[in-house]
Parts: sequence; C-alpha cells; structure tokens
Amino acid sequence: MARGRTQFNCTACGALSPKWAGQCPECGAWNTMEEAVAAPAATSGRGPRGQYAGDGGARSLVDVDLGEDPRHRTGLDELDRVLGGGLVQGGVVLLGGDPGIGKSTLLLQTMANLAQQGGALYVTGEESLRQVAMRASRLGVSTDNLQVAAETCVESILAVAGRERPRVMVIDSIQTIFTEQLQSAPGSVAQVRESAALLVRHAKQSGTALFLVGHVTKDGQLAGPRVLEHMVDTVLYFESEGGSRFRLLRAVKNRFGAANELGVFAMDDAGLKEVRNPSSIFLSRHEEAVSGSVVMVTREGSRPLLVELQSLVAETTLSNPRRVTVGMDQNRLSMLLAVLHRHGGVFTADQDVFINVVGGVRVTETASDLPVLLAVLSSLRDRAVPQQTVVFGEVGLAGEIRPVPNGEERLREAAKHGFRRAIVPKKNAPRGGRPFEGLEVLPVQRLGDAIDAAFE
Ligand code: TYD
Ligand code: MG
Repeated sequence: MARGRTQFNCTACGALSPKWAGQCPECGAWNTMEEAVAAPAATSGRGPRGQYAGDGGARSLVDVDLGEDPRHRTGLDELDRVLGGGLVQGGVVLLGGDPGIGKSTLLLQTMANLAQQGGALYVTGEESLRQVAMRASRLGVSTDNLQVAAETCVESILAVAGRERPRVMVIDSIQTIFTEQLQSAPGSVAQVRESAALLVRHAKQSGTALFLVGHVTKDGQLAGPRVLEHMVDTVLYFESEGGSRFRLLRAVKNRFGAANELGVFAMDDAGLKEVRNPSSIFLSRHEEAVSGSVVMVTREGSRPLLVELQSLVAETTLSNPRRVTVGMDQNRLSMLLAVLHRHGGVFTADQDVFINVVGGVRVTETASDLPVLLAVLSSLRDRAVPQQTVVFGEVGLAGEIRPVPNGEERLREAAKHGFRRAIVPKKNAPRGGRPFEGLEVLPVQRLGDAIDAAFE
C-alpha cells in the first residue's frame, strides 16, 4: 500500500510543517510537533478524518433505520449490564486495565460466546495464535466459529475484516497496532490515534461492533492519547484491588447506557466467572460486633450494594492530625468531622482518623455520610454498632440527616441479606407498617437521633 504524505502538526496551535521541529515555528511552543497523515487515505475529499460514512445529505431523524435488534448479547450478564444491555452494532468499546488483570481472558470468553451467533474475529497483536488457542482450550470455551488473526498492521486488519465481515471484532491491543501511513513506532501517540481512527471508521461504516484493548499507564490512565477516549462510544476499566481474585468492570463513559455501572467477576483457574450477588463479597461478616465497623447500602450504577466501612481513630502525635481515606473523598471526611464536632459534641481534632471502604469499592455518593460518622464514633468510643445493622443517609452542615435516592431499594437489599435494623433518613423510611420482612427501620432526623439509635 502506498504511504500517504505525512506532515507535522503543532498540538498547541495547529500549525502545519513538513518537517519535525523541537519548537513550533508559529507559536513557539516546545515539543508539540506530532506526526500526522497529510491527506487522509480513501476518504476522497469528504471532510476530515474521523467523519463517519453518510450520503452527504440531511434527513429527518425518524427516517433513520435502526436495523433489527441493534444489541448483541455477549452471554455474560455482568458485561451486558455494564454495556447498557449488550453490544451495539457499530459500537466501539475501549477496555482498559493493568497488565495481567484479565482483559484478554474476558474478551476471549466473550468472543467464544458471540461466535455461536456467527461472525466473530479476534485480532491479537501481542500473543501468537498458538498462545490464544492454548488459552481457549484452558478456558474450555467452544472455538468453532471464532476467527483469529495475529496481525499488527491496521491496513491488513481492515483487509481481513473486509473479507470475513465479522459482526464483532476484538483488537488486542491498540498499542501494538500501526498504520503504514506513519513512520513513528507502534504505541506512539500518533500511531495509536491514526490506527484507532481507521478502525473506528470501519466499525461505523460496516456496523461491526468493535472492542479495543488499551494498556494502562502506571498512574492508571489509558496509555496513549486522551483522544482515544473521545473517539470511542464506551470506555470500560477492568480493575482489581490488591491481588484479590475479584475483578471489577466499570463503565466510565457510555454513549449507549448509564456510566458508572459496575460488573463483578471472579478469576479462577478456568477463567472469569460472573459474581451475581456482589453484596456477599464486599461484606466481611465478623463473628461478633467490632468497633469501628459499619455496614452501609450504597449504589453502584443501577443496583444496590452492601459494603462495610471501617474506621480507626487514634490519638495523634502530630500537630496536624491525619485524615486518611481509602475509597472515598478525603475533604468530605474533614467536613463530616466538623459537623460531628458542632452538632454531635464530639471532638476529634486531637485524633488521627482513618477510613477504609472494604473490598476496593469506591463510594462517591453522599449516602455514606452517616455511616462514616457512626464508624468514627464507634472507633473513638470503642463501642460496636450492633450486628445486623445497616446505615445510610446524607448529613447536612446543620446536622440534619437528609434523604438519598432509592431508599426503598436499599432497604430491600438489606432485608434480603438478613439485616435486622436500618438507621435511615426519616424521608427514606417507608410509610406505615413493616414492609420489609424482619427489618426494623429506625428513621432519624438529626445527627443526635442517629447516634442514639446506633448506640442506644
Ligand atoms: P490476561 O487475560 O492475559 O490479562 P491481560 O490481557 O489483561 O494482560 O490474564 C492473565 C492473568 O490471568 C494471568 O495472571 C493468569 C490469570 N488467569 C487465571 O487465573 N485463570 C485463567 O483461566 C486464565 C486464562 C488466566
Ligand atoms: Mg492481554
């Protein structure tokens, strides 16, 4: 294939130059010149690269053909939910994660399922075909209709895809792919961006659903340009906490569903298994009640999740006491401690306060306010909150306990797992009677009421 003309763009001001330079001749910025394709191949003058195929005209939105069943089920319910109900035709999903977390395993299992419905192509740029076959046999998945290719040149990949016409294609990984039109090495910003743009355009034109695997750098960002996240429809992160066998699949962007959905898998010697009842893994049930531990009901995406919050409060030796949180916002903790001082009469300025959300979950919603304060108090006084108690609720700066969304659903989840008491905002308490089998609901309005209810 003929190599297109390349040129260099300044990423700061957009100036063009036929040669690379350390400093942009126009705006004078340093190290901003990047290689790019001068004339995008095969777009025959229709707009800039990255524009999707159309016939050039405008039409009424109701006339746009949706096609039959636009979603493909992947056969893994946890993945389907994170994707917003399945894979979308022509949709592009970027799957990021640390090395060895199980990205290739997840996608091989998914593709083996999808191949049963026909047309699945797995392109590997990192492993040999033999390695992929060995993994498949180890996973015990059926590989009858699954096509594989070991290829890193995007032009060849597109040629294979044009022949095979798969409904679903995996590129493992985008950092190994290069386009012949650029001279820079695979994995460089320009290469990743150009190859991804070509693959995305192919997906949109042909209706092929596309998975791109992306590496993650040391500080947890997707390696390569940030624009990769803008080019795709869905960005998923696959993560795990400190060597545990549980894997969390998180949607951080989704054009076809809710972001912040969470899927949970467990890795064992036969690959990834879905965890359908994640509440049970994030709760470490203690033999007896321990101080500093409070169970809360949070929400991850569209479902409730029981998680344990732990707090340790210890007298400080520093002039600035420490406020350390794992799995939640540290500033919020400082604010809550101020509320506890003012409205609960509890002084913590001479104490170090540590908060940990068990199981590597990140709690970002305000429903954790009340559980955090009760955990702090429990540790400070060395008095346990009775077992089988769940807590949730937002704490306002005036010491009032404010309602949180989806109260009933949270209470139902607690009842399902055998909890007997729930300390919740008054507005979240169900009206009348005892609608949840075996669960006593204690509605509270002020921080003081909540402290009384928790420690009787
Ligand atoms: P892999 O999918 O290769 O990770 P990635 O593509 O994200 O780099 O996963 C490799 C890890 O998974 C490796 O550490 C071994 C483990 N593993 C299992 O525990 N069980 C299995 O059945 C398989 C296939 C892998
Ligand atoms: Mg891999």
